[in-house]
Amino acid sequence: MPQRIVAGNWKMNGSRALLAAYFTAMEQGWAAPRRCEVLLFPPALLLSESIERAAALGIRLGVQTVHPEASGAYTGELAAEMAADAGAQWTLVGHSERRAACGESNDGVAARAVAALRAGLKPMVCVGEVLADRRAGRAEDVVREQLEAVLTTMGEDLCAGAIAYEPVWAIGTGETASPEVAQAMHAVIRDILGAASKRLLEVPIVYGGSVKPDNAAALFAETDIDGALVGGASLDAAAFLAIIAAMENHGNP
Ligand code: PGA
Repeated sequence: MPQRIVAGNWKMNGSRALLAAYFTAMEQGWAAPRRCEVLLFPPALLLSESIERAAALGIRLGVQTVHPEASGAYTGELAAEMAADAGAQWTLVGHSERRAACGESNDGVAARAVAALRAGLKPMVCVGEVLADRRAGRAEDVVREQLEAVLTTMGEDLCAGAIAYEPVWAIGTGETASPEVAQAMHAVIRDILGAASKRLLEVPIVYGGSVKPDNAAALFAETDIDGALVGGASLDAAAFLAIIAAMENHGNP
């Protein structure tokens, strides 16, 4: 059975003060999860500040992207090796905001996932269609193309990571995919992984897009939804704790 994961993506939000208050609130409300792994992707500059308090709670840390190269003349970029050296264990790759704003292609995302593994980081590969694709009936084709680029490059090495299905029209919009719509795409993703290799059936597939305490349990009740990648709600410790509790209480056994 795939590992259950609840992950928080802070995007370009937060400060040292907010982080300190956040960990205090997390420590107060924390009940060690039995069934899921909790990940946090703060801005890279807050990573080292997070290490000790995250470790005390068993929360694993990650960065929000890495560059394909290990070093070089890439001003402003972050190598996977540097993230690992700073204490990251995971990295997001191919988040839709980076695909859209930074022009990350399917091949570029695959190269970042390979870089993550090279440095010993687990990649959480984000896939998902925009609204126009869904309206045109192309949602599955788009997700398949995104996945196949990563599978062609990584093959079974993807067993070390996870997939996040994030329909772009549901990110930061308050519009969640219904559990049925999300489950349907998760099942497609599971089939694509399983067709590539039976071992890949164990790769966790988490859902992202306006996950909140009040919709998390219904999403987690679906067969192929192994957790969540939470954006906005992960900045609020109480909301993030409630989503972790929803996984603990209502996830599949
Ligand atoms: P959201 O973001 O929960 O704010 O919609 C999810 C994400 O982009 O990872």
